[in-house]
Amino acid sequence: MAMVCLSDFEAYAKKYLPKIAWDFFAAGADDCSTRDENILAYKRIHFRPRMLRDVSVMDIRTKLLGTEISFPVGIAPTGFHQLAWPDGEKSTARAAKAMNICYIASTYSTCTLEEISAAAPSSLRWFQLYIHRNRAVSRQLVQQAEALGFQGLVLTADLPYTGKRRDDVRNGFRLPPHMKLKNLEGAFEVCKMSLLDPSVTWNDIYWLRSLTHLPIIIKGILTNEDAELAVRHGVQGIIVSNHGGRQLDGAPATIDALVEVVEAVQGKVEVYLDGGIRKGSDVLKALALGAKCVFIGRPALWGLAYKGEEGLQEVLRILQDEFRLSMALAG
Ligand code: FNR
Repeated sequence: MAMVCLSDFEAYAKKYLPKIAWDFFAAGADDCSTRDENILAYKRIHFRPRMLRDVSVMDIRTKLLGTEISFPVGIAPTGFHQLAWPDGEKSTARAAKAMNICYIASTYSTCTLEEISAAAPSSLRWFQLYIHRNRAVSRQLVQQAEALGFQGLVLTADLPYTGKRRDDVRNGFRLPPHMKLKNLEGAFEVCKMSLLDPSVTWNDIYWLRSLTHLPIIIKGILTNEDAELAVRHGVQGIIVSNHGGRQLDGAPATIDALVEVVEAVQGKVEVYLDGGIRKGSDVLKALALGAKCVFIGRPALWGLAYKGEEGLQEVLRILQDEFRLSMALAG
């Protein structure tokens, strides 16, 4: 089967993954309207292409908080990569390193942070944190990530409770017994999401600040009000995200929320976006509307499901080629 676009990887993953894993990756909250809007919203945005502008040489590199990456796409944090491929997050880290992009490793990884950093030493990695009721667990994770050379701390702000994903409820989704949330082993039993702390507030950014020298990036912002609060609380970056439509159904598509966030921060911090990126032209639209970089969630999992790190590299290479082509054709 020729893999030409990201939908080809989606079709492969749907066909070959166990249903319970596919359903978990695909899930959105409630009616999945926000999940689907993330994609549909791109189709309503059109370019004003310019012609005759010498596009024979193009530079698609950029910088994330000062570190150069090969093109403005990274890997969003998603849990449970071993559901897609036996080597799990180690393969993800290797693919990101090979492509010279940023990988945000999830708190809910099925490999340890040590395994992830050993798989791809001296690569650009950020660590994504969910704050747990047991603050000692969160503190230890943050400090371990910093010691292991992760270069950014991504605080996910949109999950005080887990959204209602109907298929996961129907399937009674849980990790197979041979997979573990390795970074939380010993801290408490696997999959007790209720141990997340729903009392987190903006003041906890100061608590995080006291734990680490890493830049703090806040993920899950959708309004200018929260963007201003994020800047005021001293974060270095904002990821406009609705968690791939898995949390509040009815939240806006991220590409629609991007503009007000970009306007609110007035260039004081970097703004990124995730949700619904499926083509190189989507990346270009997000950049044109003010994002510095975008991140992919599900497409990375489809790439892993196809052929592990090679499959993920293929997904990234296709996006890179499509992005370069869109830039050229848009002048
Ligand atoms: C996620 N997402 C997520 N976010 C996060 O901060 N920590 C996490 O552990 C996870 N886990 C997770 C699992 C799965 C299966 C999915 C699909 C998503 C959200 C993720 O970072 C990102 O916001 C979305 O996936 C982006 O949307 P697309 O690219 O999947 O459309």
